[in-house]
Amino acid sequence: MSIKQKTLDLKKRMQNALQGGGQKAIEKQMAMGKMTARERIIYLLDPNSFHEYDLFVEHAAKDFDMDKKHLPGDGVITGTGTISGHPVCIYAQDFTVAGGSLGLMHARKIGKIMDHAMSLKIPIIGINDSGGARIQEGVNSLAGYGEIFYRNTQASGVIPQISVILGPCAGGAVYSPALTDFVFVVDKISKMFITGPEVIRSVLGEEISMEALGGAKVHSEITGNAHFFSESESECFEKIKKLFSYIPWSNQRKAAPFPKKAPKRKQFKIDNIIPTDPREPYDVRDVIKAISDDSDFFEVQELFAANMVVGFGRMNGQTVGFVANQPLVLAGVLDVDSSDKAARFIRYCDAFNIPLVTLVDLPGYLPGIDQEHAGVIRHGAKILYSYSEATVPKVTVILRKAYGGGYIAMCSRHLKADFVFAWPTAEIAVMGPEGAANIIFRHEIMNSSNPEETRQKKVEEYKKKFANPYVAAAHGYIDAVIEPGETRRFVLHALDISTEKNVEIPWKKHGIPPF
Ligand code: HXC
Repeated sequence: MSIKQKTLDLKKRMQNALQGGGQKAIEKQMAMGKMTARERIIYLLDPNSFHEYDLFVEHAAKDFDMDKKHLPGDGVITGTGTISGHPVCIYAQDFTVAGGSLGLMHARKIGKIMDHAMSLKIPIIGINDSGGARIQEGVNSLAGYGEIFYRNTQASGVIPQISVILGPCAGGAVYSPALTDFVFVVDKISKMFITGPEVIRSVLGEEISMEALGGAKVHSEITGNAHFFSESESECFEKIKKLFSYIPWSNQRKAAPFPKKAPKRKQFKIDNIIPTDPREPYDVRDVIKAISDDSDFFEVQELFAANMVVGFGRMNGQTVGFVANQPLVLAGVLDVDSSDKAARFIRYCDAFNIPLVTLVDLPGYLPGIDQEHAGVIRHGAKILYSYSEATVPKVTVILRKAYGGGYIAMCSRHLKADFVFAWPTAEIAVMGPEGAANIIFRHEIMNSSNPEETRQKKVEEYKKKFANPYVAAAHGYIDAVIEPGETRRFVLHALDISTEKNVEIPWKKHGIPPF
């Protein structure tokens, strides 16, 4: 064959492989409102940047007539490309080919592109749309998953790992996304569960739809397995692009700087955000927007444990991770879910060299039998652990309440915050004035001729003594009491002078966090 004929032959082979599971399967995919695997990659990456590898990989299975089946690319597309110029490795399972099921060669392709990501020190994105382990390939499919989980664990904290769930992700397959940093889901399209509705019906006799069991909303609002919820695939891809603008390619770098921009001061007036009455709620995101560059804030896990707000913004063009109690929801208390949410985000920022800015306003840990039995001791400890082990610059601003364990947990001086500032509205105490007065003045209140009046008097006495930032300031536990309008200036300066921060940590193989 001449070079021309060989080139034509190559083109024909490529054409065949690019058909995926064929027109009928592609139409079925589109009828479900889903893009095809290749369309997804093309949409997400910069134009003409995708380079596909292993297009001609084929399965080698023989059982159950598999030797008669041709599965183009073995049901997964892998390659490299760029997002806003940043290099990434990517794979997308092709549901049109044997339901995107994972056989030996399919898993090897994923493992190979993950290995590339690790050796090149660039992010890996996995688009999941699969019926799970390829049943005909038996233990080889299970081995394939095991190889992926191992790589996910090795890559954790080294390169960003992003999972996008755009179809079913069932059985053990869910554990790869669960081991990655950020999980993106799309309403009505994403489905994640260990055992599906059929198994639940036959084993437990309970009826539930796939959507109600493991749909996008369930994982965004209830389980916390998902970090970003979108209404459509295109919205989801835009969010992934946005996330990439905040994070570095690997743990050996810092996030790329952006042009510095002042906050939108007309829209977010910092002096007016906190209500005069300390019992009134307000939206802490307004405080974040009042101090962040261009009032930008990209929230992570917005729908889960909303009493805690976490997400990315920028200060003087540099990415920072914001962690803030949300007085709008449950008065911003710490509980099982909000502790998990914050702890994981703090560890992410620390692993990827992103400074932490913490905004504090909380009445403490949530009391209750449910919380105690759900393990609030163990879960609450995660936030202490992750702040204490974090060595990135840590700046804390106490806005209002900082009571009890909540004061310590929210990146206090005692967990080695580099700088702690407090607004004049801050109340730093063991507990709220009402609770405190009821306990320490119980006898005086009970024995008084007018218990209610005495109680009020004692509450006021306690408030005057402790419900302010000055006792903590007198002990040097906070570095400065600042006017709200000075917050950005103080935080910017603290971050600016912390860029060379270097903390020696005691030698250890690894710690034992309260998982
Ligand atoms: C082989 C599979 C497959 C699988 C789907 N297909 N799942 N082939 N192994 N696991 C094939 C179907 O036979 C069909 O082939 C094509 O993919 C499309 O599937 P449909 O069923 O027609 O699609 P749909 O109606 O949309 O249903 C999707 C589905 C369903 C809900 C995912 O296919 C399903 O329930 N599949 C099995 C899910 C499952 O139990 N997987 C194993 C989980 S255990 P044809 O040729 O007809 O087009 C597991 C263990 C991992 O994953 C453990 C790791 C630790």
